[in-house]
Amino acid sequence: MLTKTLYRSDMLRCVLCHDAPCTSACGRLDPAGLLRSIWFDNEKQAAARLPVEIPCRDCAAPCEKACVRPQEVPIRRLILRLQEEVKPELEVDPPADEERLRTEICGVPLENPFLLSSSVVGSTYDMCARAFEAGWAGVSFKTICSLDIHEASPRFSAITSDTGTIIGFKNIEQLSDHSVAENMEIFRELKKKYPSKVILASIMGQNEAEWEELSRLCAENGADAIELNFSCPNMAEGGLGSDIGQIPELVERFTASARKGTDIPILAKLTPNVANMSPAAEAALRGGADGISAINTIKSITGVGLHTYVPEPAVHGMSAVGGYSGNAVKPIGLRFIQELGDNPALSGMHLSAMGGVESWEDALEYILLGGGSIQVTTAVMQYGYRIIEDLKSGLNLYLAEIGAGSIDEMRGQALENVSDTTDVLERDTVIYPKFNRDKCIGCGRCMISCSDGGHQAITLGEDRRPRLNGKKCVGCHLCVLVCPQRAVTPGRKRVKLR
Ligand SMILES: Cc1cc2nc3c(=O)[nH]c(=O)nc-3n(C[C@H](O)[C@H](O)[C@H](O)COP(=O)(O)O)c2cc1C
Repeated sequence: MLTKTLYRSDMLRCVLCHDAPCTSACGRLDPAGLLRSIWFDNEKQAAARLPVEIPCRDCAAPCEKACVRPQEVPIRRLILRLQEEVKPELEVDPPADEERLRTEICGVPLENPFLLSSSVVGSTYDMCARAFEAGWAGVSFKTICSLDIHEASPRFSAITSDTGTIIGFKNIEQLSDHSVAENMEIFRELKKKYPSKVILASIMGQNEAEWEELSRLCAENGADAIELNFSCPNMAEGGLGSDIGQIPELVERFTASARKGTDIPILAKLTPNVANMSPAAEAALRGGADGISAINTIKSITGVGLHTYVPEPAVHGMSAVGGYSGNAVKPIGLRFIQELGDNPALSGMHLSAMGGVESWEDALEYILLGGGSIQVTTAVMQYGYRIIEDLKSGLNLYLAEIGAGSIDEMRGQALENVSDTTDVLERDTVIYPKFNRDKCIGCGRCMISCSDGGHQAITLGEDRRPRLNGKKCVGCHLCVLVCPQRAVTPGRKRVKLR
């Protein structure tokens, strides 16, 4: 964890370029690919890809000069660290094939668990074809409907980090703006060219007859499964979109309508804009669904113009509540997948999990809580289809390292370790923080937080190093979380004195 943080922070100036000049300038290695792997929590795979001998130590680093931010990214040092610090620690060779990643979605074979989730990223033939070529196992195609869709401009806004990276993303996009006939043509062409790739047809009807008709049409034109969009927050009017997902009776009724249209698997895509998802999921099961997809986006306002008083995105002086996605929503997505994965009434239902997946570690967390397949949109919008390389190779190496024969072995492994309530937790021990005095720079942030947001257990000595008062410390670990040097870690365990 610590190593990862250091590696990541060292490459924050890297912009993950297209057709990166560092790689063209090097000619021997692929610095851009290696840095991308570090960015996406996949440094072990990056190290494993390096040849036995690398030319970096005595090299004048043309990669760093050619960089679009010349000399600002320590590319050479990062590669040397991979070679000298990470590679010797590798316990297994990277797997030669991707057999461990094979899985299924409601009985339909998937070559790996990763699909594009329904959105702009999978909305044309060309986009899906490029994603399939890059290695995605399938696509949940942009939601098909018979409505006349005219999108607003602009239609996105975001919360970003100091480096400009998108953390949370808001969209006010609606559904596919192609006709049903155009989309059916795309399905036929995709199936002809990529028969082993999986197409989930995301649909939204306006009434029972339309749900039935759309599911029938999609199945007839090559879809492998149907995904019922009961959850678009941007289509809430007139009983569409997330309004449906909030009303279990409608979920059951429209799932049953879609079921009448086809025998192929059906997944209900549910809204997180509810307190609990189980009532809607159980209704979908009663209506004939085989799986649940979750989460769709969360109703949000990302920012209000302080001089215009218009929230973002501003469309001709007006804005609207829209759907929030991206890495910021992962904790909420994980919580809903845990709720569904833990619900015995839903056992046997496939859970297609999504919400903020950027790296293989994000994906694995969903799988450990019961996810069977993984869908992604916002990370693809930010970084491109190419993230599939690190999603697959990182997960594959992890499985090889722990000796797992298949990704399915991991499903739900974390469920018994999490409870819906905090009542069940042991409360008789305290884990004190441990301060690494060599790493500490004496900023006093631990002291400030403990003083004003904790239990006044930390003081600063004359040497500006923290002193812990064990009688006052409750082991909350706020100091561990706020230390900018990562110099505070969990330490000794003590039975609490009452
Ligand atoms: C621009 C945009 C458009 C979307 N359009 C749809 C859609 O048409 N149908 C749908 O079911 N979900 C749609 N979604 C929701 C995503 O499929 C996904 O559920 C959500 O974004 C969470 O995943 P992520 O954090 O990986 O983006 C859209 C999301 C975004 C960002």
